[in-house]
Amino acid sequence: MEREFRYTPADFNRVREVLLQLTGIKLADSKDSLVYSRLVPRIRVLKLNEMRQYVAYLAAHPDEEEHFINCLTTNLTSFFREPHHFEILSDFIASGEKVERIWCTASSTGEEPYSIAMALVQHYQRFDISTRVLASDIDSRVLAKAAMGVYPLDKVAGLANKERFFLRGKGKHLGQAKVVPALRELIDFQRINLLDQQYPEATKSDVIFCRNVMIYFDKDHQGEILSRLLAKLRPGGLYIAGHSENFSQYGHLMKPIGRTAYIKL
Ligand SMILES: C[S@@+](CC[C@H](N)C(=O)[O-])C[C@H]1O[C@@H](n2cnc3c(N)ncnc32)[C@H](O)[C@@H]1O
Repeated sequence: MEREFRYTPADFNRVREVLLQLTGIKLADSKDSLVYSRLVPRIRVLKLNEMRQYVAYLAAHPDEEEHFINCLTTNLTSFFREPHHFEILSDFIASGEKVERIWCTASSTGEEPYSIAMALVQHYQRFDISTRVLASDIDSRVLAKAAMGVYPLDKVAGLANKERFFLRGKGKHLGQAKVVPALRELIDFQRINLLDQQYPEATKSDVIFCRNVMIYFDKDHQGEILSRLLAKLRPGGLYIAGHSENFSQYGHLMKPIGRTAYIKL
């Protein structure tokens, strides 16, 4: 295929190595075209001539790492994705468990932490609650979007009680919905790389959502990250994984209580 910028298999492999080292994300052989299309905008912005130059630029400029990571993450998400998990959360609280801090570890553009916050408000039937949600992601661009809390109307159209949780945009904001301040205030946003050896103190949690991100890591990284996450979860705390993330081999650390939901032993 004729490409605007020279791009060789060696460039692809170097990009994969750097991404794995920085984020734990392991890209399959089939992702070579995706890498090219995601990084081309950076090559243009930096006025470079080929991918090899971009790889060299990245090695020489640590500041570029954030852009590099932002370009290569996959941020697919939606409000109340895997809805059974929000029922499990509500049942967990209803059973009398203390839930003061919830960490949403790969929160992407915010639909997941806002869903958690909406589930809390629905459960307690008020906004004025002591529970706080920490939403984190490695991608600074999606975090900034999440913190704004502005979504196209069609993304929130199907939500129950949307009038309670969103303001409809007017004038130049027509077609958009903005999270109400009382919901936004329940959430703190912070950039956290799950590959970091130490997670900040603020990540100490009663409940951890870590959904649809472990799938991007290899087995070794998955095991290491899981044990660091569990170190931040109190005994008896709730750990919620994504639909294709199964931790049955960690039965000595946590006990399954529902579809990809576990209690830390
Ligand atoms: C597919 S989205 C999942 C979003 C949400 N958890 C859900 O289930 O709808 C995966 C998210 O993981 C983030 N991610 C990837 N590697 C990460 C890492 N090493 N540390 C933290 N977040 C990471 C990506 O930036 C992306 O926003």
